[in-house]
Amino acid sequence: MPRGEAAISHAHRPHREYRLTLSRRDFLAATATLALGAAAPAGAAAPQLRAAPATARLAQAQYPETAVWANGGQVPGPTLRLPQGARLSRRFVNALPQASTVHWHGIRIANPMDGVPDLTQPAVPPGGEFLYDFTLPDAGTYWYHPHNRTWEQMARGLCGPLIVEEPKPPQVDRDEVLIVDDWRLTADAGSDESPGHMGDWSHAGRLGNWITVNGNGDLRLAARRSERLRLVNAANARVFELGLKGLEGWVVALDGQPLEHPQPAGRITLAPAQRADLIVDVTGEAEAFLVSFERDGGYAIATFSIGDTARPEPLSTPSPLPANPVPRLGDLEAARRVRLHMQGGAMGWMAGATLDGERLGIRELVDKGMVWAFSGIAGMTDRPLVTAARGETVRIAMVSDTAWPHAMHLHGHHFRRIGQNGQPGPLRDTELVNRGETAEIAFVADNPGDWLLHCHMLEHAAAGMMTWLRV
Ligand code: C2O
Ligand code: CU
Repeated sequence: MPRGEAAISHAHRPHREYRLTLSRRDFLAATATLALGAAAPAGAAAPQLRAAPATARLAQAQYPETAVWANGGQVPGPTLRLPQGARLSRRFVNALPQASTVHWHGIRIANPMDGVPDLTQPAVPPGGEFLYDFTLPDAGTYWYHPHNRTWEQMARGLCGPLIVEEPKPPQVDRDEVLIVDDWRLTADAGSDESPGHMGDWSHAGRLGNWITVNGNGDLRLAARRSERLRLVNAANARVFELGLKGLEGWVVALDGQPLEHPQPAGRITLAPAQRADLIVDVTGEAEAFLVSFERDGGYAIATFSIGDTARPEPLSTPSPLPANPVPRLGDLEAARRVRLHMQGGAMGWMAGATLDGERLGIRELVDKGMVWAFSGIAGMTDRPLVTAARGETVRIAMVSDTAWPHAMHLHGHHFRRIGQNGQPGPLRDTELVNRGETAEIAFVADNPGDWLLHCHMLEHAAAGMMTWLRV
């Protein structure tokens, strides 16, 4: 059990590798409801965002509904859609049996609104409220999720999309958010959110056995001729390999930020918390699919029925979306350099680490459920990894000495990964660092406050992969 987290109240249950989705026929036979949220009005007297226990139809009709924790009664929570530059104002009401917060992932937000317990605000206790009120500097696809016992609260279903609209959005027939998630369901479609044995935590993190799109195990939509698809990976730890069949198009944005040059949408690797915006066109007959490639083959996770919407001639490259006002990187040679050594996990050969100022061996760390570390320190530190002057360009070399992939997320900023050629890549807020790899990111530390840098494999974060920066 992770240090400093409340005791887990339910009994330990064994892992079930039970896979509900084995047959494609079953998969298609399933009925489910479409749980897309209505846009909430902007401004006025702060509408509520209420987190509470609920039930949701995740599995096929023959299974009971699954007990979840939901925002606004639905999983995922309501889609918040506001224009760029607008103010988002929501009264978060915590009707959960646990303290919680809301983190607005990817927003270059004012620090007190970032939703990180003990760093930017106290966690909101059960029955408590907190007013989130901030402006949205960048257009794009973002999302919100809790940041307290995140591994559990997100496994139970808490999350939702936050869409910030460009002043002139690209012309498409539909703009659709597709939140992909995975659940660990028990044989009776119960949600098994138990942390499991240390195996999960020290390996890839909690991987589910049931995939949903917008909370639906068999999402079906009528295809439109051209669509903007906003993909969001809300899974605890699963890296999705996604592809399209019968739809063709372009990736126009990653993690909310427009690509200078839209890329043809082939296989899309979407690590936890990452987003990709696509502009696609129907090219197939009868049906088109969003496909998740698993070890044992591709599964259709959303189906578009085509009718007569297919277009014979291929879509021409869309023009890039207008850039957001993210500051340009300063001189990379002169930039402040920081090294982050990522350690631990199974097959990681970490001998020990410092926990709460105390040096512990790996056995003691395992006992405390802290099996990952950044630069010799497991979990949060008193002092930041780096204190940057406002406006300074910072480079962080994230050196993975582990046998597992990690989705590294920086709060409050967008960064660029520096490529092999020394050239900075696209703006992102979450970067996949593969096993044994070094990923160097650079960003302008222009947002004052204290900001987390952590792995978005939520079990890794809870078990030690968490640090922070001060601007
Ligand atoms: Cu998506 Cu620290 O979070
Ligand atoms: Cu990780």
